[in-house]
Amino acid sequence: MKQKFLSQILPCMVIFGLCGCSSSDSDGNIVGPDRKSSAAEEPIESSSSAKEVTPVDYSKGAAMNKKLGNGINFGNTFDATCETCWGAGPVKPEQVALMAKLGFKTARLPVRWDEAASKEAPYTIKPEYIARIKEVLGYFKDNNMRVMMNMHHHASFLNDMVNGMPNEANAEYNLTRVDSIWAQISREFKDYDNDFLLFELFNEPVNGVSSDLYNTMIQRTYPIIRKHNPGRTLVYNTYPWGGYAGIKKLVLPENDGNVIIDVHYYEPQLLTHQGHNTKCDVNNPVKWLGSRAEKSKISTDFDNMRAYADARFPATNPEGIPITIGEFGVSTCNNLDSKAKWIEFVVETMDSHDMSWQYWAFTSVGGFEFYNKKSNTWEVSTLEALGIDPSLVEGQFPPSSASISSSSSTESSSSIDTSSSEATSSSSEE
Ligand code: BGC
Repeated sequence: MKQKFLSQILPCMVIFGLCGCSSSDSDGNIVGPDRKSSAAEEPIESSSSAKEVTPVDYSKGAAMNKKLGNGINFGNTFDATCETCWGAGPVKPEQVALMAKLGFKTARLPVRWDEAASKEAPYTIKPEYIARIKEVLGYFKDNNMRVMMNMHHHASFLNDMVNGMPNEANAEYNLTRVDSIWAQISREFKDYDNDFLLFELFNEPVNGVSSDLYNTMIQRTYPIIRKHNPGRTLVYNTYPWGGYAGIKKLVLPENDGNVIIDVHYYEPQLLTHQGHNTKCDVNNPVKWLGSRAEKSKISTDFDNMRAYADARFPATNPEGIPITIGEFGVSTCNNLDSKAKWIEFVVETMDSHDMSWQYWAFTSVGGFEFYNKKSNTWEVSTLEALGIDPSLVEGQFPPSSASISSSSSTESSSSIDTSSSEATSSSSEE
């Protein structure tokens, strides 16, 4: 059964800033995914060439992946149209300190360089923007966290389509601009310790950024980035939407073992994206009970993910090519119990597959978050599912009175982040 999602432009204009909802806003910016079921539905191209690939020693990437461990996305901050535009920012030192205290080893920092760089050559990034990113990197450094910094919501390219297809006429311009922005990033951040900072080329290529354009981008930016960053671990997300089927289409830089594949995991979408791709119906939310069949589907996805990666990127090191799950999560829709069960099982599965992970996200991301900034409340059940001791958040953040929403009130609407129930951005039709 094919689902068609209604146009989301109007709802996004209304709830812009609250949701991670999809397609374009009034400015033509990508504000979140109108995801397809990224794992299973994408047609798989054969990768017969993979059989001829010489095995690579990915031990450098694998060692870094081990260090990444469990992490947290600082979503809707620098990936928003401005740091405070979508409600999650500004990033504060005390927030970073708390994330470190909760046990997160890594932060994924999504950055909308598109907004900060000129549209004309040489596509200069505003110096004050770079300065602010450096200041925030300092917060993570001070707290002994690593940072995986990316290019996120590069809307000018992602939305550049003609009749639903990538705008080939602009491809050279779009690729050149990405090259130039990465040239600047790689110069500006070259002195950061390789052990501290990783670069992720591009978040969720899709729409205007076809699989071919994305692979071209990878090949073109690689020497540009490596010129000043010979020892840095480079991370590559998959086409489309970061789904794992995209591993079969990915063309990585040749013979470089200091890389990590980033896959995003949100299956089943009908559970994870309520209030985003589909309506959040608080009276009848989609649940996840942790049945044998539900668990088996997830386990199979992760087994396939590993198998696809091993087949396409043969390795000489025992761990194989490393995989991080750069995003996973559930948007709350009166189903905290389901959310917790799903997260707990996905974490267990990622851990058993030796994959590092970064939860989407800390705060104000339309319901995926475990901290509601507006009400200063925490989703205890979500924290616990992530393996975090909830007593650590008590009294955060002074001086306001932090309260903790109890997991026992899981299915009550009072524990729902209002932003998620407001984020009813589309409905589906047969
Ligand atoms: C997007 C967010 C979205 C999240 C979950 C991220 O990649 O940047 O806007 O909410 O995925 O769909």
